[in-house]
Amino acid sequence: MTHRLYLCHGPSCSARGALATRQALDTALWEAGLLDTVELQSSGCQDHCDHGPNLLVYPGACRYAGVTPERAAAIVARHVRDGVPVEEWLATPAMRRGTR
Ligand code: FES
Repeated sequence: MTHRLYLCHGPSCSARGALATRQALDTALWEAGLLDTVELQSSGCQDHCDHGPNLLVYPGACRYAGVTPERAAAIVARHVRDGVPVEEWLATPAMRRGTR
């Protein structure tokens, strides 16, 4: 495996559309021919509930916030396939639950 992806399926991220994001990730990985080299897993809460759906990408780790289906496809293409994290969609420390 070259990458491991953990998409939050906690209650907030699920309410914010994690299932559609999961489907978009599956499709993007398949279209990019990466199903054999990338592991996609569901995770529990990642403590950034107000900004989900949240996606952790290893190695890194990089945490993405607000991962819509459109962003999911772009993250697969730009970060996972091309190796360039999408800086503008990375979570910030202030997004962590309990830091406000
Ligand atoms: S439910 Fe996804 S970060 Fe808490």
